[in-house]
Amino acid sequence: MTFLRAATTTTTRLTRTPIALTRTMSTSIEIPQKMRCVLVKDNQGPAENMYLGEEEVPKTKEGEVLVKIKAFGLNRMDIMQRQGKYPLPPQASKTIMGVEFAGEVVKLHGDSEESKEAGNESENGEKWKLGDEVVGLAYGGAYAEYIALSSKMIIHKPPHLTPVQAAGVPENWMTAYQALFLEGGMKEGENVLIHAGASGVGGAAIQLAIKFGANKVFTTAGTDDKVDYLKKLTGGKVHAFNYKTQDFEKEIKKVDEAGVDLIVDFVGPDYWNQNVSLLRQDGRMILLAAMSGPKLPADSALIPILFKRLNIKGSTLRSRSPAYQGDLLGRFEREALGALGGEDSGMEMKVPIYKVFSWKDVVGAHKEMEANKNSGKVSFRAELLLSSELLLDPDAPYHRLCSRSIDWPPVQQRRDMI
Ligand SMILES: NC(=O)c1ccc[n+]([C@@H]2O[C@H](COP(=O)([O-])OP(=O)(O)OC[C@H]3O[C@@H](n4cnc5c(N)ncnc54)[C@H](OP(=O)(O)O)[C@@H]3O)[C@@H](O)[C@H]2O)c1
Repeated sequence: MTFLRAATTTTTRLTRTPIALTRTMSTSIEIPQKMRCVLVKDNQGPAENMYLGEEEVPKTKEGEVLVKIKAFGLNRMDIMQRQGKYPLPPQASKTIMGVEFAGEVVKLHGDSEESKEAGNESENGEKWKLGDEVVGLAYGGAYAEYIALSSKMIIHKPPHLTPVQAAGVPENWMTAYQALFLEGGMKEGENVLIHAGASGVGGAAIQLAIKFGANKVFTTAGTDDKVDYLKKLTGGKVHAFNYKTQDFEKEIKKVDEAGVDLIVDFVGPDYWNQNVSLLRQDGRMILLAAMSGPKLPADSALIPILFKRLNIKGSTLRSRSPAYQGDLLGRFEREALGALGGEDSGMEMKVPIYKVFSWKDVVGAHKEMEANKNSGKVSFRAELLLSSELLLDPDAPYHRLCSRSIDWPPVQQRRDMI
């Protein structure tokens, strides 16, 4: 396999040595021309259409860094993208899914002083170095060994989070933070309702609302196990209801007849009337998805929106500019990241990892999420398939099996390969 040498400021030249050695020295990092990544046959279709393929390592542009990925997160949006139901922003990879990752900076764009001045810095003005451990939010392309993206869209990985835990942070926690505070304007002492509480985004929003002083936090989930999980996650601080067996509107009003000031909703039509009824005067609702369908039924209440002066807003994080997303990451890093730890960390907020899969199980992971089985985050550990031995040996089994030049085997066999 041929390697390109990354541009660095140092004059130290290393003889060609395995990746692991050069990385620890952080002076010069070997970058292959090709990388492995999860691709989708015909670019869309069922989970079984995913396979491990090969693409060129992405080229960096002005202001970008190249990151070698150690772990990446799975999001519901990836499933919609694979099914051809998600309108991609123009910057997104057309072939590789994945909007969040943890990894290591292996290349800074540009050799000249001017280009270094122009780019390779965080939203806070901090310069990046080769070998920096980072966490990033991307428009796409994270189901891969390498990703090129704006240096504004990465932050330092906190040392107390593993790459797998850290990879589960960007999409869920930025979405939740944005919905609660930037879009929803949550203030201390307000009552907040967060639907789909056991989702990655829902669990993050519940914990943020509690940390930042919400009065009462309510949530819904589809099984008793998920309700119990949410109570445990928050040390009993959330009022959680099983929406399949309980009328959440009645249950919330039993706790506080006045209802709620802010709702973060992903469900849409099925919850519309209950949501409108629960919102107080000047209440706000942030709609982040419409999982129960794209249209409101004919009996949807509208008049209370006028008389209660309700503010109902939609938002998508992925459509925002790099500057916006970088600013959001920076704010989150300053205000919340320090209080976020692993599930057994005893810290104020926790990244609840439901399961960690290897790349080989990407089909199984998508299917579990599609079946709503997860409570919390689904993450992938990329390291299993990324040893230098596999990268350097063209006869290594995964390399050979996953090359794009293979003939398409039957579906079952293809799934076994992944
Ligand atoms: N707008 C944005 O910027 C943005 C960004 C990120 C994510 N999102 C959206 O946020 C949602 C959560 O994302 P995620 O990755 O955290 O998802 P996730 O972990 O897969 O969780 C989604 C959960 O939603 C619940 N659900 C599914 N269909 C439902 C329905 N019809 N009615 C009620 N609940 C339903 C299920 O839990 P139960 O078993 O409890 O029903 C499911 O496990 C997704 O819809 C995603 O597209 C939006």
